[in-house]
Amino acid sequence: MNIVPFSPGVGAVVNDLQLATMTESELTELRAAFTEYGLLFFRDQDLPPEEHLRFANRFGSIVVNKFFKTTQESPQIAEVRKEKTQQTNIGGGWHTDHSYDDIPALGSILVARTLPETGGDTQFANLAAAYDALPDNLKKKLEGLRAVHSNTHLYGENGLYRLTDLNDQLGGMDRVGDATHPVVIRHPESDRKVLYVNPGHTIQFEGWDFTESRTLLDELYAHVMQPQFTCSFNWLPGSVTFWDNRCTWHQANNDYQGQARLMHRITIAGSPLAAA
Ligand code: OGA
Ligand code: MN
Repeated sequence: MNIVPFSPGVGAVVNDLQLATMTESELTELRAAFTEYGLLFFRDQDLPPEEHLRFANRFGSIVVNKFFKTTQESPQIAEVRKEKTQQTNIGGGWHTDHSYDDIPALGSILVARTLPETGGDTQFANLAAAYDALPDNLKKKLEGLRAVHSNTHLYGENGLYRLTDLNDQLGGMDRVGDATHPVVIRHPESDRKVLYVNPGHTIQFEGWDFTESRTLLDELYAHVMQPQFTCSFNWLPGSVTFWDNRCTWHQANNDYQGQARLMHRITIAGSPLAAA
């Protein structure tokens, strides 16, 4: 196995490893790389749905998304689908998966199944690096703060996605809900401090009013979106990405209108998040 940084501050590419036939010692090495980088890219994988499931189960236990359709192959694999005729895509804005759960998901393993000829990259951001680079006065301001994370504004009645042509693919309107988490968490494995708010799901700081929250959240988001904390991954047939939802954000580019894109996603269960 050969692990090389993908961009100066975000992610790594794992070469010379086939996930489907990985040994126990390779899995141990992969766990260490996942802790170090929080975002791993793989090329030229042969990972049919049953092997995708087996890899996920070797890493942890699977959690099922409450809103996405699942595949014919397995109720544990979510479909991230955009049809040729569809305008809106899933995950088109910066977010992290499942931060609205009390115990947010550890990570997600995304496998390319159908790709557009061009476009459809996924962008990622490194929230541990972004936290480290915050000015001291801002770090101080965030100490002890908690934030509310929700999905109601996306998947609830009149939620953003409900008003688009994505709605037909989504279920679980009644399963919406909120959770609160510390704004700066201590990553359970790497022990690093991480900025744990995201544009998709974070609504406001607990005990703050909405406008006041918005101002600080927007300042933090602008900081994270700087080029040194972000990268863009171009999918090819056989590409797989495994990201840590506790220390990354991602968003799917929607720049391939008129073409289809289908990804399979398995999400792995995490552990409760503690303040740093
Ligand atoms: C996801 C997601 C991004 C993509 O699967 O959680 O946001 O590029 N997907 O499809
Ligand atoms: Mn996502």
